[in-house]
Amino acid sequence: MQLLHLDSSILGTASVSRQLSSEIVARLQALHPGIQLSYRDLATDPALHLSGAHLAAFQGVVSDNESINADLIKGNAYMDELMAADILVIGVPMYNLSIPTSLKAWIDRIALAGKTFRYTEHGPEGLLKNKQAYLASSRGSVYAAGSPAAMLEHQESYLTGLLAFLGITDVKVIRAEGMAFGPEAKTAALAHAREDIAAIMA
Ligand SMILES: Cc1cc2nc3c(=O)[nH]c(=O)nc-3n(C[C@H](O)[C@H](O)[C@H](O)COP(=O)(O)O)c2cc1C
Repeated sequence: MQLLHLDSSILGTASVSRQLSSEIVARLQALHPGIQLSYRDLATDPALHLSGAHLAAFQGVVSDNESINADLIKGNAYMDELMAADILVIGVPMYNLSIPTSLKAWIDRIALAGKTFRYTEHGPEGLLKNKQAYLASSRGSVYAAGSPAAMLEHQESYLTGLLAFLGITDVKVIRAEGMAFGPEAKTAALAHAREDIAAIMA
């Protein structure tokens, strides 16, 4: 069994989503002894934004640009790691109502027609079957359904939608929100998230 762990927070050791994603991984390791881990810190080692040079390379044009070539190798490794994974754990803070750009850059490499999804006469079909995902979500404010800010929530909704588009529909969100509402709110939200982690079953 393989687990792919991604982090995308720029806050290093102060990051809530990194803390929660590592606790989810520890819980899954306890539930699945011997599970193989691969890890990507997308914040400290991001892929480049897609460019015309990338698209040309995808069409078979050989580039003499070292940075593009190294980045193409990184993108291929992203895809291999995703394909091999049975479980994904993704640390995803909300940045400006959405996901960090480093995580979007990862998505831009793994959302590939013919590989992770395809279009059929019935519409799009996700090709990633039999994978589970856990999202360690953190955000400064509160975006729960029914709250005034709910319509601004484009972080979890985007990521769960994207994963479903690729065929990954078994997605559990472990959420700590209201991180900017003071220490008491933060402590309560973290305690709630940890209860959700403890409740993860094999
Ligand atoms: C660049 C940046 C943008 C942010 N944008 C939002 C936002 O749009 N909405 C929000 O509720 N919190 C926002 N926050 C607060 C973070 O979501 C919050 O601090 C969260 O805990 C970050 O996760 P982390 O601790 O794993 O880095 C932002 C923080 C940063 C650094």
